[in-house]
Amino acid sequence: MTNSAMHNSVTEPLDLEKIRADFPILQQTVHGCRLAFLDNAASSQRPQAVIDAISHYYEHDHANVHRGVHTLSHRATDAFEGARLKVKQFINAASTREIVFTRGTTEAINLVAASFGQTVGAGDEILISHMEHHSNIVPWQLLCERTGAVLKVAPISLSGELQLDSLIDLMSEATRLVAITHVSNALGTVNPAAEIIAAAHARGIPVLLDGAQAIAHTPVDVQALDCDFYAFSGHKMCGPTGIGVLYGRESLLERMPPWQGGGEMILRVSFEDTVYNHLPYKFEAGTPNIAGAVGLGAAIDYLNTTGMQRIAIYEAELLDYATEQLSAIENIRLIGTATHKAGVLSFLLAGIHPHDLGTVLDHQGVAIRTGHHCAMPVMDFFGVPGTARASLAFYNNRQDIDQLVAGLAVATGMFA
Ligand SMILES: Cc1ncc(COP(=O)(O)O)c(C=O)c1O
Repeated sequence: MTNSAMHNSVTEPLDLEKIRADFPILQQTVHGCRLAFLDNAASSQRPQAVIDAISHYYEHDHANVHRGVHTLSHRATDAFEGARLKVKQFINAASTREIVFTRGTTEAINLVAASFGQTVGAGDEILISHMEHHSNIVPWQLLCERTGAVLKVAPISLSGELQLDSLIDLMSEATRLVAITHVSNALGTVNPAAEIIAAAHARGIPVLLDGAQAIAHTPVDVQALDCDFYAFSGHKMCGPTGIGVLYGRESLLERMPPWQGGGEMILRVSFEDTVYNHLPYKFEAGTPNIAGAVGLGAAIDYLNTTGMQRIAIYEAELLDYATEQLSAIENIRLIGTATHKAGVLSFLLAGIHPHDLGTVLDHQGVAIRTGHHCAMPVMDFFGVPGTARASLAFYNNRQDIDQLVAGLAVATGMFA
């Protein structure tokens, strides 16, 4: 592995210069300016090691998995299942049977809604929060439409924190599942996952965590969290698009029916009687995204070598610096000021539409996201049509933040 941060201890700071050199895309200029890529919550960038792993797979090892007796099929299967093992270790799952490959977080949540959802009936309740991404809202709305179940929504505060007492009050005998984001993509709020899970389990309610915004920023241990489901996407953790993971507690997955039918998910098929495959293949119908899994495995290697704990420490410092710098700007409104945050700065500049801000910043080489961030209920709560959002990764540095602040000054000058 080319990553130069190899074998560093938890306390040793990241060598940003060397890390940044691992990401070819960061070396370019945009509109003649140095690129400050601050749109990592939407999708992160890939180090050369991930790009190379995917190329190597296609150049040397590709064939379909699980089916062939020939050498390439064995190699492809080993690469694919090797990636599953890396995922298992990365999130400390108890078994690879608990690691289901999906297209991403969205598909993972839809899988749970479709399959676990078959135990949900009229009058049952699914409990979410007001800060969810649409992909942790709409699958439950579809389930409720299908079954007559009811969607309950726990409130948030003006600082963008979950109102934990209200969430717990909403847990009832009718609650079949609590589905909550680990980290909010629109606000950056880190939710008290352990407390939520303890309260839900005390009432016999399973918990799904949407880990899309947590997985690349903090070490995740599904056994320590004691969550029942954990969903995340490869492309937000330096891996490829089109690959993601549903972690599910084995005892729950065992009881859940398949959600899609086809090859891979069966042991035997006849017109009279079809026998489903064992875990996790029961949930993986059809030819999977093999190269995607290989790339995800390489991304996990890279993150492990860099050190998730070190990444978390570094990003917390960078977020503090960015918050301080942005807070000093006149006429700025920060949306999402929770005490415990990760990686996200949502804001508005008085008198400037977020889209205009995004365009002006792009011309300064600064990539941010503007709009509702697939969290329209959050925007409604704060009474805004959208925000400008700068989101961090471990390869960002203070120069990126300074470039953002300078770009905001240019925008203020233009629109004043
Ligand atoms: C909190 C959260 N959940 C779910 C998703 C959906 O992820 P994907 O589009 O990779 O399925 C996102 C993507 O931005 C997200 O931020």
